This record gives sequence, C-alpha cells and structure tokens, in this order.
Amino acid sequence: MKRIYLDYSATTPVHPEVVKAMLPYFTEQFGNASTIYSFGREARKAVEEAREVFAKMIGADQAEVIFTSGGTEADNHALKGVARANREKGNHIITCKIEHHAVLAPCHFLEKEGFKVTYLPVDKDGLLQLEDLKKAITAKTILISVMTANNEIGVVQPVAEIGKIARGNNVYFHTDAVQAFGSLPIDVEKMNIDLLSVSSHKLYGPKGIGALYIKKGTKIENLIHGGEQEKRRRPGTENVAGIAGFGRACEIANKEMKTEAVRITALREKLIKGLFKAVPEVILNGHAEKRLPNNVNIFVKYIEGESMILNLDLEGICASTGSACTSGSLEPSHVLTALGVPVEQSHGSIRFSLGKFTTEEEIEAVLKKFPEIVKRLRSLSPLYKQGKTGECCKNGTACR
Ligand SMILES: Cc1ncc(COP(=O)(O)O)c(C=O)c1O
Repeated sequence: MKRIYLDYSATTPVHPEVVKAMLPYFTEQFGNASTIYSFGREARKAVEEAREVFAKMIGADQAEVIFTSGGTEADNHALKGVARANREKGNHIITCKIEHHAVLAPCHFLEKEGFKVTYLPVDKDGLLQLEDLKKAITAKTILISVMTANNEIGVVQPVAEIGKIARGNNVYFHTDAVQAFGSLPIDVEKMNIDLLSVSSHKLYGPKGIGALYIKKGTKIENLIHGGEQEKRRRPGTENVAGIAGFGRACEIANKEMKTEAVRITALREKLIKGLFKAVPEVILNGHAEKRLPNNVNIFVKYIEGESMILNLDLEGICASTGSACTSGSLEPSHVLTALGVPVEQSHGSIRFSLGKFTTEEEIEAVLKKFPEIVKRLRSLSPLYKQGKTGECCKNGTACR
C-alpha cells in the first residue's frame, strides 16, 4: 500500500538535495568548525554560507543569526534570554493563549522566577486582536511573543502590525515562525521583528537544527554556557552537517515559495471543498483565508479525532489531531479551547497538513476514503444516533 503523508506540520521529509548537501560533512569534511586547519576551515565555510543564506532570506545581517538545536531551543533562548537580561527595566511579558508549548512552557517557567505574563485571547477564528495587545502593554512590559502562524489551525497573525505596536512602545518583539518560515515571506526589518525562531525540519531540512534571529543591540542573556562558538552566544560544537542541510533547505524554500504557495493552496481548497461536500456536519477550525497554505483543520461532529486518525492510518493515510490528544492525554487542545469551541469540537477535530510532495491524486484518495470512514464511525456512535433524534447535543456541549 502506498502511504499518503498529510502531517507536514509535524515534520517534513528531508529533501534529496538537502541530504546531498549534508553528506560530505559526515565523512570527508568532518572537521570541527572551530579548528584552524583545512578540515576546520571547510566546516566553518559551510556554517557561514548557511548563515548567510538564512540571514538574507529574512532580511537580516549574518551577525544577527545563531544556530540552535531547533525551534524549542530558539523559543526558550528568546524568552528566557530577553526576560532575564531586561529584568531591571520590567518584569512583564505578553504572549498569546494559542502559542506552541515551546513558548508557553518558558513563560510558565519565567512566572516562577517572578515575571508576570499576560496570555492574550484570540477571537473565534484564532486571530489576536490588536486592541487587546495595546491595552495589555504597561510600563513594565519588556517582551511581546506572538507566533507568526499556528501549528494546529494554521492561522496567520498580523505580525507586522504587532511588531509596529511593540516598536512604538519600546518593547522587544519575538515571533515563533517555526510553521510559517519557508511557506510565507518574512522580512524582519519590514515586520519590526527583534527575535525570530525557526526550525529546519519544517522545511525539508534535518531535525535537530534551527536558528534564532536576534536583532543587533538586543539585550539578551545566553541560554546555555560553555565554549566560544556562535560568538559565545550559543556554545557547543556546531552541527555542521545539520547547518549545511538547513542552508540548502532555505535556498530551495526561497526559490519555490511563491509557486508552492499557489499549488498547495489550490490542493488545500480542493480538500476543504471536497470534505464539506462529502461529509455532512463538519466545521473548519480557524480563519478560512488567513491561514497557512497547507493547513486544513476540521471538526467532524459526533466522532473522535483519534478514531479518525487510527482509521485513516489503516488506509495508509497519515494525519494528526494536532493537539495534546495524540500523547494519550484527554485534555482538549489549548488552541481550540482558546477559540471558544466546546470540548467535543476539540476532541472531534483532525488536522491534515499538506506539503511539497502532496499530489492531486493523494487528495482525491483522501476524499474517497475519509467520508467512508466518517460514515462507518458515525454509524457506531451513540452520539450520532442521539444527535440525529434530537435527544442530545442540542446545545453542542452536553455530550461529554
Ligand atoms: C509553532 C512551533 N513552535 C516550535 C516548535 C518546536 O520546534 P522543534 O521541533 O524544532 O523543537 C514547533 C514544532 O512543531 C512548532 O510547530
């Protein structure tokens, strides 16, 4: 059975060109980038070339980029680093309820260190309201952290406007661009971004490598301490192969971004329209247009997200609930909860995320199989039967 992968938001396969770019750094060019002989110089060259490619892609200077082990580290470094270095100025951080745990967990951690964190709400479409942000800023605010695009529902925030408000109030602005980078154009100058986190494995690069942009002049503490690497800002022997692969992935993404956005958006729309036509009682989670080209997140009434995932898996189709449910927790998704949806909507939602290797035939195959699965699961669902006869679910919240 040929498998269909529709979980590109979780991770992407490494592009063959990226693998090719990485291979020499495992074998003949294996030097430590901090050494001064030829092996080291070759490795250093690869690291600096990748830094240049990434910096150019986001409109930054090379000196403003450090490599990290991924998005989680970049987010932690940005939040803890800026908070601790600016403690004298203030102790207030503003973020958003639908951030990834890589931002929310450091915020909770910083609260234990005495920082105050405001978690801004979003509207029913998942969008942050600029008025709420303006009202939340106080004289003690030192940092605003709002993601560029959400990993569960794909909603894209008004980042440039948020940056403008932050700059106007002399507050640092960090954005977690892990999901957006490679799919949407980003210019840190035009968007008034002071810190930006990205991760290579979301754009056909290897896992375990990412980057943090830190605008020149930003007061920030190190996250880890050790050697001299990355101009002492992020010590540890460089992951040269990973960095070289990330650089190549950036080049490919930059070249193909526009055409891929058009192609994938068309496939996304085909999937959404097809699902709405073939499956009764479905709701699209998140804003219909202000979303990543590759994200489809729907609520299928009366059945569980996990059952849909497992049944799709039996057909060779890989999708995700895009929520904590996947870890076996019965907690509803914090993102969907923030949209104000009932618990059952959170548990009955499924995310399809498309990518570079998604084809029209694959979307058609999903549109054939998925309605059959929903029909079968609903036929087994007491909620469906009760809902149909009007005995339950009248207010949409009562059943669980
Ligand atoms: C929005 C967002 N931020 C951060 C991360 C963490 O990135 P990494 O897996 O590179 O640590 C992810 C990963 O899914 C993400 O989607």
